[in-house]
Amino acid sequence: MKNVLGARCTLCGHMIPATPDITVCPECGGILDIEYDYDYIKNHLTKYELMDRTERSMWRYMEFLPVEGPGSTKKLRVGASPIYKADRLAEILGIQTLYIKDDGINPTSSLKDRASAMAVVKAEEAGNTTIACSSTGNAASSLAGNAACAGLSTYIFVPSRAPKGKVAQLMMFGANVILVEGSYEDTFRISAEAIDRFGWYNRNAAINPYLMEGKKTVSLEIAEQLNFKMPDYVAISVGDGCTIAGVWKGLKDLYAASFIDRLPRLISTQASGCCPINTAAAAHTLDWKPQEENTIADSIAVGVPRNPVKAIRAIEESNGVTVNVSDEEIMEAMRLLGRYAGVFAEPAGATGTAGVKKAVELGLIEKDASVVSVVTGNGLKDVANAIKAAGEPISIKPDMNELLDSFERLGKPLA
Ligand SMILES: Cc1ncc(COP(=O)(O)O)c(C=O)c1O
Ligand SMILES: [Zn+2]
Repeated sequence: MKNVLGARCTLCGHMIPATPDITVCPECGGILDIEYDYDYIKNHLTKYELMDRTERSMWRYMEFLPVEGPGSTKKLRVGASPIYKADRLAEILGIQTLYIKDDGINPTSSLKDRASAMAVVKAEEAGNTTIACSSTGNAASSLAGNAACAGLSTYIFVPSRAPKGKVAQLMMFGANVILVEGSYEDTFRISAEAIDRFGWYNRNAAINPYLMEGKKTVSLEIAEQLNFKMPDYVAISVGDGCTIAGVWKGLKDLYAASFIDRLPRLISTQASGCCPINTAAAAHTLDWKPQEENTIADSIAVGVPRNPVKAIRAIEESNGVTVNVSDEEIMEAMRLLGRYAGVFAEPAGATGTAGVKKAVELGLIEKDASVVSVVTGNGLKDVANAIKAAGEPISIKPDMNELLDSFERLGKPLA
C-alpha cells in the first residue's frame, strides 16, 4: 500500500507496519491509527479526477483507503448514500441550512456497512475465512451481510436486548449468532475471549484500526456531494466512538490532501441516559467514566465505550459541540425526520438530528449555520420503537360508518 505509512499507536506513538491482521499496539495495547502519505495521495488523485470516476460505492476513494486493491471478493454496494437538502426540516429546527446524509440506505441499512465492507477485504488480505465481532446490533448485521456476499463465515455476539429486526438480519444472512444475556460490555468480553481462542479475523470496533478507515468514507462522500464546500458542522450520534472518530479522520484526510480548505466542527450527540464520551469531552478530559446503558437508542447504549480516546480527541480537535438528548427528544427527531424529510431513522440514527435541534435551542450553534446531520441507521431495524415514536394508526371494521366516526373523533376533514 504505497499510500499508507503505517499504523501509529494513539497512546504511546509507537509505529508498526500496516499488515492486514494488526489489532492493538504491541507495546502498550493502545488503539492504532492508520497514517497516510498525503503527498502520495495528492500526486495520484485530484478532485477533478475523482469527480469523473464511475465507481459508485465507498471504493471510489481507493487512494484514501488502506487496501492493496479492490479485493477479489464479491461485494455489496456500500456507500454512495444520498444527501438531501432538507429545507422544511431546517425551518422546524430553526437552522438556516440542513443536509441529511441518509446512511440508512446502505445494503444492510446502517453506516456500519462501510466498516464491515473494509473488514471483509482485510480478512481476505489476511487469508482468513471466518470473521467475528461483538456489536450492539448494526455492526453485527452489516458484517453478516457483507461476509455472506463474499462467501466468508461469521461468528456474531450481540446483547440479548438487540431489536428483533437486527437479529432477523443476522439469521437471514446465515451468521452463527450468539445472543449474550448481559450488557454490551459483557458481550464484548466474551467475544474477545472467543476470538483469541479460535483465531477468527477480529472485526471488533476500535480493536481493528481498519474499520474506522471504512467509516471515514461517509465524510469523503459528504465533501464530494457538497462540491468540496464544507458545512459549518457535522452532527453524528456516538456510542463506542468509532463512527465520530471515523467522520473526523475522513475530514482531516481531505484537508491534509488539500481537497477541502476548512474543517467543520463536530456535533457529538449521545443519549442523556448513556453519555460517557460527551461527559468527558465536555470536561475536556480523556478520563471518561463508565455509565449505565439507559436509552431506547440501543445502538448507542454503550456504557463502556471502546474508542473513547479517539472520539474525545476528535471532538476536541474539531472544537466540537457536545449535546445529550433524552429518549423523548430522540423520538421527536424520528418523527420530524419522517414527516419533514421523508427519512426513516432508527433511534440512534435520529440522535444526531435530535442533537442539532437541541444545540440550536441551547444556543450552542448559530441559527445561520450550515449543518450536515448523518442518519446512521434505518428505522425498519427497530419497528417497535418506531411505532412507539410515531403512534398506532386508526383501526376500523370495513364499515363506512366506523370510518366516518373515526374521522369525527380525529377531527380529520372529510374531503
Ligand atoms: C445506527 C448507529 N448510530 C450510531 C452508532 C454509533 O457508532 P459508534 O459506536 O462507533 O460510536 C452506531 C453503532 O452501533 C449505530 O449502529
Ligand atoms: Zn502503544
